[in-house]
Amino acid sequence: MDSIRIRGGIPLKGTIPISGAKNAALPLMAATLLSAETLTLRNLPHLVDITTMANLLASHGVALHMNGGAGEGCGGRVLELTTARITDTTAHYDLVRKMRASILVLGPLLAREGRARVSLPGGCAIGARPVDLHLKALEQMGATIAIDGGYVDARVDGRLKGAHLVFPQVTVTGTENLLMAATLADGETIIDNAAREPEVADLAHCLIAMGAEIEGVGTSRLVVRGKDALHAATHAVLPDRIEAGSYAVAAAITRGKVLLEGADATHMAALIKVLTAAGVSVEAREGGLLVDAENRAIRGVDVMTEPHPGFPTDMQAQVMALFATAEGAALMTETIFENRFMHVPELKRMGADINIHNNSAIVRGVSKLSGAPVMATDLRASMSLVLAALAAPGETTIARVYHLDRGYERLEQKLAACGAEIERLRG
Ligand code: UD1
Repeated sequence: MDSIRIRGGIPLKGTIPISGAKNAALPLMAATLLSAETLTLRNLPHLVDITTMANLLASHGVALHMNGGAGEGCGGRVLELTTARITDTTAHYDLVRKMRASILVLGPLLAREGRARVSLPGGCAIGARPVDLHLKALEQMGATIAIDGGYVDARVDGRLKGAHLVFPQVTVTGTENLLMAATLADGETIIDNAAREPEVADLAHCLIAMGAEIEGVGTSRLVVRGKDALHAATHAVLPDRIEAGSYAVAAAITRGKVLLEGADATHMAALIKVLTAAGVSVEAREGGLLVDAENRAIRGVDVMTEPHPGFPTDMQAQVMALFATAEGAALMTETIFENRFMHVPELKRMGADINIHNNSAIVRGVSKLSGAPVMATDLRASMSLVLAALAAPGETTIARVYHLDRGYERLEQKLAACGAEIERLRG
């Protein structure tokens, strides 16, 4: 297994191009299942999760054609997906267990074929993460659902029926699954308490380009009038606000200055507010976001994770690394996932002073972290260790790099271009 070695303490300076968003690209790829015509996605990031989704879609009969290689900076790759016919409505365990977002094929398969058998994703490192809300909502649209042999077995006679769905809790992939299903349903579907994440809006814009009728994009009430079929479309994946946010923290934690090329500040308001309150200068420029922490004192700021437009849970671990090196204390409260502090013991091994009380962590800044061998159990936790390592004098080796490869395109190259001493150790 590969690991990453970082010699920290160097302020980052330069430009980092921001890739297309993983969490937008995955549902956008699944949307191909809704139409027999070609869906062309531009600005696709080169990531392991994208390959996993491509393999899953291929197993359903999707023809995929990729143009452009990795390493091309802004612009990403172009993927053409054509689902002339769905050849298999089963999403097998071997593929689903690699990535929970595989559940995103459930709604489209059921809507187009009237049948879907999708392996239950099961637990994962950051919490139980059930899919009960996806299933209840599909049942409300007329599906019959059974759990059998570890699989969700969903059927519907004829088309799904429009319904008034009210999610009792905000769910991102749940909203996306039901939004896709509703585009081919018979009649009108209202989704209340819909997730307002920019990735949901990106999916809605793509579905509209495919001929879907959707109102309320970006709000908590989506109204969808179902169509008999959707058609070909071309769509560019929006920039990854979590990748951009992670590199904003990289600039801040090393007291450097970095231009995040292509980042969209309008999707990052909650994070920008926290970084600004902490003493970092964050300025939206044409072409990107300039993050400047040169010669600045950084203070801890209290943070609570919430559904968008609140502070994203996917940035909690990275910002915790920053506050581990800040002046004063920060109270960080995680409200989305019940077990998302796994980076804390590893950060403590690097000298951080953090105490967990239920779903809150008190982070007391220390003047210096120190390099150490560490490992993490999920994507964003791994990134928090990379960030801590960039700040810590000495050498840090981060094991289990495959977590990072799921969500950060060309991580070492992007950081090295700004002066970081970082290398991948093959093993
Ligand atoms: C998505 C993101 C993930 C992010 C998360 C929250 C993708 C591919 N992943 O995950 O990066 O951290 O949103 O912003 O976009 N829940 C239920 N039952 C359900 C569905 C969800 O109880 O049927 C709970 C979850 O356990 C969790 C909360 O609702 O506590 C929010 O989860 P959800 O928004 O669904 O997360 P994901 O869509 O899996």
